[in-house]
Amino acid sequence: MAFPRQRLRRLRQSEPLRRMVRETALAASDLIYPMFVTTGRDRREEIGSMPGQYRWSVDLLIKEVMDVKSLGIPAVILFGIPDRKDDRGTSAFDPNGIVQQAIRSIKDQVPDILVITDVCIDEYTSHGHCGIVKDGRIVNDETLECLREMARTHAAAGADMVAPSDMMDGRVGAIREELDRHGFTETPIMAYAAKYASCLYAPFREAADSSPTFGDRRSYQMDVANAREALREIDADLEEGADIVMVKPALPFLDIIAAARGRVDVPIAAYQVSGEYSMIKAAARAGWLDESRAMMESLLSIKRAGADIILTYFAKEAACALRAHE
Ligand code: PBG
Repeated sequence: MAFPRQRLRRLRQSEPLRRMVRETALAASDLIYPMFVTTGRDRREEIGSMPGQYRWSVDLLIKEVMDVKSLGIPAVILFGIPDRKDDRGTSAFDPNGIVQQAIRSIKDQVPDILVITDVCIDEYTSHGHCGIVKDGRIVNDETLECLREMARTHAAAGADMVAPSDMMDGRVGAIREELDRHGFTETPIMAYAAKYASCLYAPFREAADSSPTFGDRRSYQMDVANAREALREIDADLEEGADIVMVKPALPFLDIIAAARGRVDVPIAAYQVSGEYSMIKAAARAGWLDESRAMMESLLSIKRAGADIILTYFAKEAACALRAHE
């Protein structure tokens, strides 16, 4: 049945009609808000490369997390900025490390928001790599020991979920085994399964001061040219016990999100990364884009491609915008 009997514009005539036939809806409950936590007290430093995002000391972080919760956002994911770094990233698995302290405070003072933690040592290593370095190479299996400890100390501090982002082989299995052995059988793992070696993490690296001091991350993060390999990564992480799998970055990798959706039945998360956020902010500041519309269009597209969960620095603004439209 074609034109003139079929007219697709019939269902686009008015907002109520468009609303009735809309296929995808975004909700505050889909969102996870990434937050940076640092040492000291009464600190709230804006991140130059990410306007509107801050490094918080734990006391101020708590107030902000209360705000996040009141907007209906179910979870935050924490990134730590420690005051000391070394070649093994030992401050990442210190039971009194910055993230471990933040988890305890949030669980104590804002009990019903989910606290997810990023498990990766790059913010804590002096060389900025996500693994232990030997003879200029990033060694896989030794790094797993650090990741085990990091995940276990997060769970022991009260984390509701851990999210390994390092891209070492076997990390999900190692972390699952470690958590189970210590009685954290109910702590889910959200695996950064298909994490690409993207240029779009640059603003984050300024925020976390985690740029590698030599080389790059291409020996462990995925080649942006590869799609089938992403499915192998996802399969491997599920096999090892991941509960949720993530694709990262989000908007340039919608094909990967859609392929993952067609392949697996676990929840799929997508990370709208720092560069995706900062590009929209910068274009809006220059007057080239309507910020709110660009934000909503990008988030909706990520959802439409098949993501159930979106990690985004826009979480608060999007939740506010969604509330205004109710
Ligand atoms: C690794 C990690 C990174 C991001 C999340 N986890 C940095 C990296 O891989 O270089 C980037 C997130 C973003 O750009 O928003 N700890």
